[in-house]
Order: sequence, then C-alpha cells, then structure tokens
Amino acid sequence: STVLVLNGPNLGRLGSREPDVYGSANLEDLRLLLSASAPEGVTVDVRQTDDEAELIHWLYEAVDTGVAVIINPAAFTHYSYALRDAAALVTKAGLLLIEVHISNPHARETFRHTSVVSAIATGVIAGLGFDSYRLALDYVTRER
Ligand code: DQA
Repeated sequence: STVLVLNGPNLGRLGSREPDVYGSANLEDLRLLLSASAPEGVTVDVRQTDDEAELIHWLYEAVDTGVAVIINPAAFTHYSYALRDAAALVTKAGLLLIEVHISNPHARETFRHTSVVSAIATGVIAGLGFDSYRLALDYVTRER
C-alpha cells in the first residue's frame, strides 16, 4: 500500500531555508528517511508544492484511491480554509490524516499558534524535526 506525504509551500527549500528553525536536511533526505523507515510493502510517496490548488487536488486523490495522508501544510496551516475543507474529506472518508510540523509552531509567532487543519485531522505531531513525519508514518502503517 501507499502513504501520501504532502508538503506545502516553501518546504521545497528545506536545507537552505532558516536552518536554525528547520535543520539542514532537505526534502530528498526526508524521502530517504521515510522510505528507509517504511515497513515492507509500504510505499511512501513524498510530494511538495507551493500551490494550494495542487495540494487540494492531492487530497482528492487520497480520497479517491483510499490512502492515508501525512501532511505538513506549512503556512497554509494557519489560514487556508480551502485546504482544511479538502483535508476534512479525507478524514470523513474514514482515512487517516496526520498533520505534522518540523518546528513547534506554538513556540513561535502568534500567527502560527492557530491551525485551521488540526480540528479535522486524526492527530497532530509537531516540533520533533523529521521525526514528526517518521512517528506519523509509524502510526499510519500500524493503524491502516
Ligand atoms: C511548518 C510551520 C509553519 O508555521 C511554517 O509556515 C512552515 C513550516 C513546520 O513544519 O514547522 O512553513 O509547517
């Protein structure tokens, strides 16, 4: 089976973007980490886009193909009701959707303290670097 790992805007710049906040590893390192931690028979499909519409369409794809989603919505977390509504389709379909963050948004600027996604997510993991994703993957591959 497949797990979709979706990354929102500016996460394509991981590695060079604010390394003090997000670390020095890039998206390719995340891909390698997750495929190495995936159990036998699980394919991890790691994607990134800066485009809200594309992210929304990937969530439709998850609903239509019945796959679990790990999503770092990046800045969309804090204000995109369109993304939230699309993410709600996933959990309403009975599929797992875990919201993850590399940093701990609650320890940062006030505008990051709100997530419009969390209320419809299965669960949220934040502040653990790439381990946020790894722990989410561990959960979805056990609960699938
Ligand atoms: C982030 C936190 C968001 O506030 C920020 O806009 C990001 C990354 C994180 O992974 O820590 O782009 O989602």
